[in-house]
Amino acid sequence: MASSEPLRAPVGTRDILPPESARWEWVIESFSELVRRAGYGLALTPLFEDRGVFARAVGAGTDIVSKEMYELEDKSGRHLALRPEVTASVARAFIQHRPPVPWKVWYWGPNFRYERPQAGRYRQFFQLGAEVLGTADPGADVEMVVLAAQVAESLGLRQVRLLINSLGDETCRPAYRQLLVDFLSARVESLCPEHGERWRDNPLRVLDCKKPECVEATLDAPASLDHLCEPCQVHWEAVVSGLDAVGIKHEVERRLVRGLDYYTRTAFEFVADSLEGAQNAVGGGGRYDGLVAALGGPATPGIGFSMGIDRLLLAVDAEGTGPPSTPALDTFVIDLVGGGEALVVTEELRRMGLRVDRGFDGRSLKAQMKMADRSG
Ligand code: HAM
Repeated sequence: MASSEPLRAPVGTRDILPPESARWEWVIESFSELVRRAGYGLALTPLFEDRGVFARAVGAGTDIVSKEMYELEDKSGRHLALRPEVTASVARAFIQHRPPVPWKVWYWGPNFRYERPQAGRYRQFFQLGAEVLGTADPGADVEMVVLAAQVAESLGLRQVRLLINSLGDETCRPAYRQLLVDFLSARVESLCPEHGERWRDNPLRVLDCKKPECVEATLDAPASLDHLCEPCQVHWEAVVSGLDAVGIKHEVERRLVRGLDYYTRTAFEFVADSLEGAQNAVGGGGRYDGLVAALGGPATPGIGFSMGIDRLLLAVDAEGTGPPSTPALDTFVIDLVGGGEALVVTEELRRMGLRVDRGFDGRSLKAQMKMADRSG
């Protein structure tokens, strides 16, 4: 170490420490309760994978893979990447272990994207999410959207809107894509510099571009929703009527394409109106019926969603909700005799199921009373 500067957490990362971390426990526990009630099991996959898992799943042309992925070569020369998201890993694990379908899993944990850090946008951020592999039933789409909506609801969030769209499938997408290419080819000059160059590689990415030039130029671009094949149309109608049946409000957002290439049919996003525009997506998801096959597995439909924990908590702050304020401890043992008594009493109380902390170091009664106070 050349410098004597104190070490700090890297740019775009944060320490999440008590008492703030208690809110994280609240979010994760609320979610684990929701998913357990719906029959999901926890999946813990590696924080890094072969680079190809993400490149093939998310798409080599997406910002996530081409600009934001943390890539590394290990000491044996393997090309690895820190996970920028979890769905690709879940699909890879499915192929590796071939569990019976429908396979329903949930997860939470850190993800890594080299983005420009700002409020609500970090280089290490946390997601919770769920995936179902092995069913093409529109009922699974509805279950996913409802679960995601319940996440926001369970945190007391009211200013969150659900946007939903259908992106078609391998049958109707090519013709739609061609329509979009024809539309864009007449407007290349008006696109942002990046998409002015790259629009042809993946024209749907232009619809996802947030630059004012691209938004303006594509205001009346053809929408996938108007060009669905019959089976996709039937699926879409079943999803929408399912959402109506369970009373989940939604807005059809015909421009919604999402930032990952694996989606087919249903795509959705939850936006928090209490947050700043560029970082107001608190979650998103969709169907990915071609993903498992694209990673070399058997043709297997799937659907899922992920919510950003960091952003959910920003929305919680903005809306002034929060966890119920229960005291952290039931008892605080003050040690005035400095022997084994405090140890024994503390352990006995804990064994009885109480939440107990204690004073150490033979500090004064006053100091220990202060600690007891602080401990809640
Ligand atoms: P995503 O839209 O890329 O989707 O990310 C989901 C959520 O993660 C976002 O809505 C946002 O709340 C949060 N998020 C993303 N990037 C950041 C960041 N840099 N800082 C803070 N929060 C962030 C996916 O990741 C898909 N895997 C979702 C999915 C699951 N689709 C199907 N299954």
